[in-house]
Amino acid sequence: MTQPTLTRSRVTVPALRQMKSKNDRIAMVTAYDATFARMFDEAGADVLLVGDSLGMVVQGLDSTLPVTLDEMVYHCRAVARGVRAGKDGGRAMIVGDLPFMTYQISPEEALRSAGRFLSEGGAHAVKLEGGVSIAPTIARLVEVGIPVMAHIGLTPQSVHAMGGFKVQGKSESDAARVMDDARAVAAAGAFAIVLEGIPMDLARRITEELDIPTIGIGAGVHCDGQVLVSYDLLGLTPNLRPKFVKRFANMFEDGVQATRTYVDEVKNSAFPTVEHSFGAGAAAVAAPPPAGTYGPH
Ligand code: KIV
Repeated sequence: MTQPTLTRSRVTVPALRQMKSKNDRIAMVTAYDATFARMFDEAGADVLLVGDSLGMVVQGLDSTLPVTLDEMVYHCRAVARGVRAGKDGGRAMIVGDLPFMTYQISPEEALRSAGRFLSEGGAHAVKLEGGVSIAPTIARLVEVGIPVMAHIGLTPQSVHAMGGFKVQGKSESDAARVMDDARAVAAAGAFAIVLEGIPMDLARRITEELDIPTIGIGAGVHCDGQVLVSYDLLGLTPNLRPKFVKRFANMFEDGVQATRTYVDEVKNSAFPTVEHSFGAGAAAVAAPPPAGTYGPH
């Protein structure tokens, strides 16, 4: 299998624009902690989204609405540490997802919230949901130098208004509304747009018309890039299998199996062995701990 050539230089806003012009696909994935972030950076993901989907996959909620800004900034900081700990100090761009009601009330509040992602969370950009109505807020954030990724179509923070997690833009009039949203956020200065849950032909038209990259999730094959919730792609969400998700691993089942083996070995005294035990002699305390390890050595 041929591997794309990846340079280790940091992925930036201009680099993403250039990827669109060269027809290089953008791979984005969600990340919520340092270990997974390092793994995704090492795998060559271009953008790590600290998504408010963490409410559902990490916190066990049934929507993203209760997630707070403090929680998001906490996870973002962990992700940033994980990326920095990777090869060459990390390559991926980190985008912090503004949670519900931290940017809708006023552009001033949006500035304060977005600023925390950059100054405390180590993010390089923020994402927010909405189209025409949120465009003035995007313009204000961009004006002060905060890069904004927009998110239109199926916007999970509007789950109640949409009557559930439903594909948007299916009728001609709804497609025109989504198209207007795309034009408005691009005109306001967004550097990229997530297109979620829209028909692939509508995503194609948006992708062809706009200069900025489109990143699809459930938006078909024509987008400039794709994003998946990492827990979905790794097979960590056993009860969920939406049509747009492809599982690239079965980590939930693998984790159950590995833990079952551990439990069995503890129960039948196969683990630990002397190999995992400390002696009392000088040699046992003389060696310094290898970097990145924890616990007694
Ligand atoms: O929160 C999230 O993970 C997202 C992606 C689904 C785009 O917004």
